[in-house]
Amino acid sequence: MSTYTIDTSTSRANPSPTPMKRLTVPKLREMKGREPIVMLTAYTMRMAQLLDPHCDILLVGDSLGQVIYGLPTTVPVTMEMMCAHGAAVVRGSWHSVVAVDMPFGSYEANPQQAFESAARILKETGAAAVKLEGGEAMAETIAFLTARGIPVIGHVGLTPQAVNMLGGYRARGRDEAESDKILADARAVSEAGCFLLVLEGVMEEIAAEATRAVACPTIGIGASASCDGQVLVTEDMMGLFERTPRFVKRYDDLAGRVTAAAAAYADEVRNRGFPGEEQIYRSKK
Ligand code: KIV
Repeated sequence: MSTYTIDTSTSRANPSPTPMKRLTVPKLREMKGREPIVMLTAYTMRMAQLLDPHCDILLVGDSLGQVIYGLPTTVPVTMEMMCAHGAAVVRGSWHSVVAVDMPFGSYEANPQQAFESAARILKETGAAAVKLEGGEAMAETIAFLTARGIPVIGHVGLTPQAVNMLGGYRARGRDEAESDKILADARAVSEAGCFLLVLEGVMEEIAAEATRAVACPTIGIGASASCDGQVLVTEDMMGLFERTPRFVKRYDDLAGRVTAAAAAYADEVRNRGFPGEEQIYRSKK
């Protein structure tokens, strides 16, 4: 249920809603065990405007590589893409915390590289936080960033930037060794200071145990209802793609509706039904 109303009629790029303060990172942290956290991906200004009243966090995910740019994986996504879309989402929102994914190659080398990339993202976008993938191997980097004023969201389990190592996108934690590793990763990034932890594509028991084990809220995607909150890729949830993974619930059929609207428009242009009287400018004389 939305807690306030927005008026986007004044300007496309700069709506003037009833002023209210954005949620903050400390407030999100406090939501653990109190109320479920709502997170969706957003990549554009207008989508951010529409989602913002209903969400606690808007994630500018590097999934934009596939969703917006038609790339085969998230690996080729660049800092320039993340900064441009991050800034657009910040301009379209005023309630949710906006977090931006750090793209592959922008943070793994060492904590200094991660700091420079994260600082650039925060400066160029106005977002409040970054997200990075990886467990124990990233703990030192997460501690380095948080000690320097950069809020970090961790991401363990199925980590799509590691697709070339994982060999695909199947859910993780099917055997004991894999589930022990995911739990160790979750503990390590939480102890390093991340304020939220995305658990992607893991068995329900692992999500439940990780959620109990870590101090920060967990956000599940394909990780059951045991998490402290949920995230989905908005275009998946809206039904913009015919095929979606099993963990996605489709709340609409945007693909069907866009197809029907485009077909109706094409028919009317071809049979000269559009533009009609209402869409034509005529001089008064
Ligand atoms: O890139 C992304 O959109 C994500 C979420 C799906 C968690 O990382």
